[in-house]
Amino acid sequence: MPIEVESPEQLGYETITNNLSESSVTDRRLSDLGLDLSPDGEGSVAALDDLLLCYGDHLGDPVLREAVAAGGEGLRADDVLVTPGAAAALFATATSLLEPGDHAVVVRTNYATNLETPRAIGADLEVVDLSFDDGWRLDVDRVAKLVRSGETRLISVTCPHNPTGTMLDRAALHALVELAESSGAVLLADETYRDLTHGTPLPMAATLSPRAISVSSMSKAYGLPGLRVGWAVCRDPRLAQTLLAAKEQIVICGATIDEAIAGRVLTDRARILPPILEQVRTRLDIVRTWLAGQETFEWIEPAGGVVGLVRFRADVEVDTDRFYEVLLAGYGTYVGPGHWFEVDDRHFRLGFGWPTEAELRAGLTGLSSAAADART
Ligand SMILES: Cc1ncc(COP(=O)(O)O)c(C=O)c1O
Repeated sequence: MPIEVESPEQLGYETITNNLSESSVTDRRLSDLGLDLSPDGEGSVAALDDLLLCYGDHLGDPVLREAVAAGGEGLRADDVLVTPGAAAALFATATSLLEPGDHAVVVRTNYATNLETPRAIGADLEVVDLSFDDGWRLDVDRVAKLVRSGETRLISVTCPHNPTGTMLDRAALHALVELAESSGAVLLADETYRDLTHGTPLPMAATLSPRAISVSSMSKAYGLPGLRVGWAVCRDPRLAQTLLAAKEQIVICGATIDEAIAGRVLTDRARILPPILEQVRTRLDIVRTWLAGQETFEWIEPAGGVVGLVRFRADVEVDTDRFYEVLLAGYGTYVGPGHWFEVDDRHFRLGFGWPTEAELRAGLTGLSSAAADART
């Protein structure tokens, strides 16, 4: 996928001044988290020093699993399988459920893994394309028309969505759960941005039905992608066991230190998350103000997360290759071009949660300037 070779990590962070291509909040250091770092405190080096670096619980650190379960009504710690990032949970889910030729319905655009893994398996994949003109809203009836009762193995959605930041409404989520239940499919809900919902979060899909798997992680909302800690939540014991078996095949268990840190952070989410959300809302407001003051770009305002899919307005004639080239070379600004998400390059993903406020403002100015330079 181009997103891999063109990612800022591979391009080199030193080549980018205003990085608006990231999909998480600002990366954090342990010391940013305000854990108790006193010598005998819970976050201290001494506490980590004392940690036995054994093969851990194959389901994942129990404290972390308790903290994840506390985020959804009626969940038990044993419903949670910790994985190395949400990416591994998505991979384990797809590889557990799908054989070559199995039918799956996946929303597009989407986070790449949700499309690429079923494709790599050779599943019979049908996509439901979202469109700007529908406000990137998922029409559940279109999904229902594709689902084959007794045949479809997987229905895959992402909410809040990457790259658009839009969300399902409560009725749509319930309708998808019912569709999975009535057809015998499994609903995979990639909820990696759920803790960054700008309004009221939806319930975790896994709390609504044993036929649903909810996936999330520490990466996006907590700014801790380097921990590589995510999870899948599933209340169906057989399905959960299959996911555990898949994880054991891939990594046996998770990294003891990473999971211990993640457990401490997530247990303390009531303190750690609100200032992050406040910062995200401030950044969103900066983008909103910028968009309102120009006539080149438009977007559907995200309802969750820290990314949105911006596009050139229809009447703007622009050489998109030149636009991206000038944007980086001339204005030090990087965004995620449409082809990362299987849409044309008149779209780009704008990440507003990762850069500093100053970088975000400079990047937005850079976007306007590069668009002016690349007009045809
Ligand atoms: C929607 C979505 N799901 C999953 C992931 C994977 O995240 P991680 O493996 O860091 O938890 C990402 C990362 O970009 C994402 O945007």
